[in-house]
Amino acid sequence: MHADSARSPDRAGTRLSQAPESLRRREGDVVPSRAQQMAVSTAAAASTYAADRSRPTPTEIAAMREAAAMARGSRLDRDPNPRVGAVLLSAAGQVIGRGVHRGAGSPHAEVEAIADAHRHGSGVEGSTLVVTLEPCHHHGRTGPCVDALLGAGVERVVFGQPDPNPVAAGGAVALADAGVAVVGGVLVKAAEALNPYWTFAMRERRPFVTWKLAGTLDGRSAAADSTSKWITGPQARADVQRLRAQCDVVLVGTGTVVADDPALTLRGPDGEPLPALEQPLRAVMGLREIDARHQVFDEQAQTLRLRTREPATALEQLFAAESRHVLLEGGPTLAAAFWRAGLVDEVVAYVAPMILGSGAACVGDLGIRTLADAPRLTLRDVARIGADVRLTLAPSRDAAEEEAD
Ligand SMILES: NC(=O)c1ccc[n+]([C@@H]2O[C@H](COP(=O)([O-])OP(=O)(O)OC[C@H]3O[C@@H](n4cnc5c(N)ncnc54)[C@H](OP(=O)(O)O)[C@@H]3O)[C@@H](O)[C@H]2O)c1
Repeated sequence: MHADSARSPDRAGTRLSQAPESLRRREGDVVPSRAQQMAVSTAAAASTYAADRSRPTPTEIAAMREAAAMARGSRLDRDPNPRVGAVLLSAAGQVIGRGVHRGAGSPHAEVEAIADAHRHGSGVEGSTLVVTLEPCHHHGRTGPCVDALLGAGVERVVFGQPDPNPVAAGGAVALADAGVAVVGGVLVKAAEALNPYWTFAMRERRPFVTWKLAGTLDGRSAAADSTSKWITGPQARADVQRLRAQCDVVLVGTGTVVADDPALTLRGPDGEPLPALEQPLRAVMGLREIDARHQVFDEQAQTLRLRTREPATALEQLFAAESRHVLLEGGPTLAAAFWRAGLVDEVVAYVAPMILGSGAACVGDLGIRTLADAPRLTLRDVARIGADVRLTLAPSRDAAEEEAD
């Protein structure tokens, strides 16, 4: 990446006059230094600031905030692609185009912003594109954004999050190689926060796993006679629907299908299943053959059979199916397998005010024989849901990272 010293002070001056009053610094963000911010108030220093083209201008930072807000507002639930927003600035620093990505197969935010500018009769030559994610450099369902930007004559690109997807990355370097001024990492935390599960999945090459359990105060998921309906109340069960709506896969073991015959569907406020296209994928993991008459194989949603007992293999297959966030709904055998493999990233536990004293545990044997070996969890949230309590927790490796921070 390189700075472009050809920009005129006049143009920079126009931009500086539009600077927001305050520039909030967040960890990891690239914002002008304190010295640079002070320099904004003096005409002499303004040209020094403008010459440092490797930093975003206040106008560009304001545009990045707008791009992030637009992306946040785009509803891309269960889309394999990230939320992305883009704002195109004219050479004078005026907004001439806005774009958001509307999901897999539709144009990327950069292309939408250029099209928006053209629709409004604005020339794009010499403009600056401000975008929350590094422009892609690969042929996916759509063409590379780098080519679209070069073709349109965009002169400068300011982006937030570097693309964590190795397949699509390299856009910044390609743009810089073609002579475009590129600034990356601007408001990067805010940009990453737009797509936490996608970012995780791209980095780890597997989906994020949330384990949901519902149990009694003494950690039982069923009574000794196997009755388990219902331990938690209707509000908690409705809350599980909300959780399913946030995930793109609902995963259970063959044991749960055979024991409970669950539908694993997402239901609307009227209790009826949502249309198949709005349902998360259902996934059933395990080696045994199971009767096709079980509800999980009905037409209400798609179902993937994962004929493996290896959690890592299952996640590999789900990632290949473009999953970014798996809701592991049970049962205890499968949950134990994921814990043993170190593949639980979050726990959502619904605890009912009920004691059984016997019956199946929420999680199977983890091979832990002494307290020191037990994974510790960090409590992220506690909420009362009807008569029950919902705990949201993260595994101890996150806690260790937090302590180190
Ligand atoms: N309270 C809750 O939140 C909750 C949630 C779900 C289920 N449940 C209860 O759990 C009970 C079913 O328990 P479960 O443990 O049999 O269900 P499960 O964990 O859903 O299924 C277990 C089966 O999954 C397969 N499997 C997949 N990966 C495995 C691995 N790594 N190791 C071993 N087996 C693996 C095995 O079957 P194959 O022979 O096919 O490989 C195994 O028998 C039901 O009574 C249900 O009500 C409770």
